[in-house]
This record gives sequence, structure tokens and C-alpha cells, in this order.
Amino acid sequence: MYDKILDICKRRGIVYPSFEIYGGLSGFIDYGPVGSRIKQNVEDLLRRHYVVADGCFEVQCPTLSPEEVWIASGHVKGFADLMVECTKCSEGYRADKLLDDVGVEAEGKPAETVAQLLIDNRITCPQCKGQLSKPYAYNLMFQTSVGTGSKRKTAYMRPETAQTTYLPFKRLWEFARRKLPFGVMQIGHSFRNEISPRQGMIRLREFNQAEIQFFLDPADKKAPRLSEVAQRQVKITDKNGKLHETTIGDAHKGGIIPLGFIAYHLGKAMSVFEDMGIDGSRLQLRQHREDERAFYSSDTWDVEYASDVFGRIELVGIADRSDYDLTQHMTLSKEDMNVNIEGRKFVPHVVEVAYGIDRPIYCILESCLREEGERTYFSFPTKTAPYIAGVFSLMKKDGIDEKAESVFRSLKDAGLFVLLDHAGSIGKRYARADEIGVPYCITVDYDTMKDDTVTVRERDGKTQTRVSISKLREHLMGD
Ligand code: GAP
Repeated sequence: MYDKILDICKRRGIVYPSFEIYGGLSGFIDYGPVGSRIKQNVEDLLRRHYVVADGCFEVQCPTLSPEEVWIASGHVKGFADLMVECTKCSEGYRADKLLDDVGVEAEGKPAETVAQLLIDNRITCPQCKGQLSKPYAYNLMFQTSVGTGSKRKTAYMRPETAQTTYLPFKRLWEFARRKLPFGVMQIGHSFRNEISPRQGMIRLREFNQAEIQFFLDPADKKAPRLSEVAQRQVKITDKNGKLHETTIGDAHKGGIIPLGFIAYHLGKAMSVFEDMGIDGSRLQLRQHREDERAFYSSDTWDVEYASDVFGRIELVGIADRSDYDLTQHMTLSKEDMNVNIEGRKFVPHVVEVAYGIDRPIYCILESCLREEGERTYFSFPTKTAPYIAGVFSLMKKDGIDEKAESVFRSLKDAGLFVLLDHAGSIGKRYARADEIGVPYCITVDYDTMKDDTVTVRERDGKTQTRVSISKLREHLMGD
């Protein structure tokens, strides 16, 4: 299956490795013309859910920031993985991943424990069987500098969008008319010098995030809309590794997901993923263990996807960051991050909903791939499909091709992403459109010239319907 996905992705302009003509560089990918459309749709879908429906603000901040930001946030000191190097071939590995490969859980464990586990499990270099170095902390941030001469300042590429959203908190607070709660979304690139980026789109060195920071009153971290997701059935692994099969509502009532606000957003994120086209039956929730949780978080949950190829993949992390970040920035910058609500002065708490974009796109591809005999297609929902329809002319003569072009133009003028294909048999054109998951194919034929109707063929069921050109937009968009 993975080979099939990779083949289509590379051949049809979805995603492919960056810098190929220079031999490539692990951890970087290009989105091609079709992939860029899917990515924009995923980002727009997130905007519709959080900015339009939930009223969050959206901001855009720089990807590079001065050292102070990351000293205050704790990333300079603490944003590190344990790395080991082969003493023979110099290949580097994440120590916990090597242990994971032999079924030993080590993520977040102290260096001495991991060193002992490597010895106990006789782990050697997977490539040359050489002896490994002792594990050491390896900071994942890309360091650079800004400016010239003596004014040159150390800077880092951001490893998450979150910090850059916190910095102008006081401006955002004014924008929110000094009321809590409010949410701020930022979609953009983040950078991590991952030790072993060997999993295609899953572990990248430059990747895309859509992170929403909810600023809350610590005295009111409830979720008024929890009832909307309370009935959703979920599989949960809690922080002690215990499995639960229950509903979001009962998990919250029973104290498994203590914070209502997190419970609501876990349920909501699952619906958002289903809306993108990800198979909901493969989604599950996992609470981080005490020893695994990021330094800034008091409770963290992931929505994970059970991949046929990569095992469990974290798609979104939802964390209670309390007042950690704002307080840290207040201390280092001396900017007062307190708010005053009816005489109560406090630093707001933050619950963060941190989506990756690239991993969900991979999961959409895996969930939507269909193989039926000779036929291979992606059954993308219309919301994430790269184009809503392909427009074909039955013949390239008798004015049919001009008519097809005018249908194509009118759909584009109506704001739809459509493609025009005149080449090859209609069957071949169907196959090409199916392969990149286009939901509808529109064929202009001799009857069109008489009665202004076209044949609309639906991708999944291959059903064909005759539709008047004047009703095409409604037919495609279901409105
Ligand atoms: N601000 C919190 C934060 O960044 P995270 O769990 O490290 O939390 C959030 O990242 C999401 O970003 C993940 O759930 C994942 O989807 C995505 N992500 C993180 N590292 C990634 C990487 N190296 N490559 C691709 N996506 C990544």
C-alpha cells in the first residue's frame, strides 16, 4: 500500500522529496501542484472549524526568532532528544526509537535509565552493528544568526508556532476586548532538526502546524460545549498505560480526562479529522505518561491514528500549558502578562490544540486509498479533494472542445477548483482524475450542444447523471 501511495504522490504531483536533483535532504518535502491544493483545503477546513465556527482569531508570526524567546520558553535548555552515535560508522539515532524497535518503552526516561536499557537489550548500530556511544541530550532547534558584524544576534528557527503567538499576548488581549476565554490560531512552518527523519511525511525537519492557543481564566477551565461531543465512543490509553473503551463524556465524568476543556477539544479534533477524510475507526486517544510529558505541560493528550505502515501516529497534541509560557516571557522580557478581571489580577492559563498538517495529510491518503482490480483511486471528501471536478470533451471537434472550455471557465468563475482534460479516451481521463481523488468528472458531448446538459460521473460509485449546465455548481457542491 505504501509503495502505491508513494508512486501516485510522486508521479501525480502530490508530494515528493525536496532537493532531488542534488541527492535530496532527509526530512524535507515539496508539495506539488495537487498536494498544495490538498494542503490548502486541510488548512481551510481547520480555519472553518476554529476561526469561522469557534470565533478564534488568526495570526501569522515570523518563523525565525531571537534567542531570548527560546531561553524564556525553556527550549534552549530542554527541547532535546536523547541521541546515540555509532562509534564505527558515525550514524546518529534517537535512543528511545532504537529501544522502541525492540519493544522497550523509553521516551522521556532519564539518560542514565536509557543508557542502561541500551546495554540490557544489547542494542548495537542497526546499520553496521558497531558499538553505540552513551546517550546524550541533543537540542532539536536549528540555530542561526541575524544581522551583521558586532550586531549579529543568535536566533532560532521556531520549533513550534505556539511561542510566537504568546509574545504579543497583550495586544491580543486588547483585541479580545479584555475578555477571556479567547483562542488564537496560527498556521505555519516549524522546524526541528530531527535525529532520524526516516518516515516520509511523518517526521520532517521542516513541517506545517496549525496550533490554537486558548487563553483561559484559571478559575474557569470548563467546556460549555462538551455535550456536543460527549456521546462519541473512544479508545483511550491513560497515563498509566491502562486501556478504556468509553465515551468522551463518561471519560470526563470518571476523571480519565480530568479537564472538560481538553475533553471537548479531543472530541472535536476527532470530528475534524473525519471531516478531512481520515478513517475515524483508526483514531484513538492517548494521555502522555508523567515522565514523557513536555516540560511546559501539566497534562497532555494526543489523538493518534493507527497507520498500516507507521503504527500509531500522533496527529494533534492537546496540552494544558497552565500559565507556564506567559509567566516565563513575563519574567525574561519584564512585560506584564497579567490581566485584570473585576479586580482579580492573574496570568491567564493556556490550553493548546496543536495540529500538524503533514501527518494528517498522509493519513488522509492512507484512509482514502481504494484499490478495485485495475482501478486505484483516492476517495477524498469534496472538502479536501484537490479539484472538485474534471471537465472533459467527448470529441475535439464540432465545437465540443470549445463548449467544454466554456463549462470549465464558468465553473472557475464560480470560484471552484476544476481541471480541464482533452487528452486520450474518456476512460483514461476518468482514471487520471480518479487517481488524484477528483470527486466528479463532467463530460461535454453532442447532446450538450443541443440541450445544454452534461454527463456528471461520480467517482466512488461511478454513477452517471445528466445535469443541466446551469445547475452544475449546485450539483457539485451539494447546495
Ligand atoms: N506546540 C506544541 C507542539 O508543538 P508537538 O506534539 O510537538 O506539540 C504538534 O507537535 C503536532 O505537530 C504533532 O501532533 C504533529 O502532528 C506535528 N509534528 C510535530 N513534529 C513533527 C515532525 N517532525 N514532522 C511532522 N509533523 C510534526
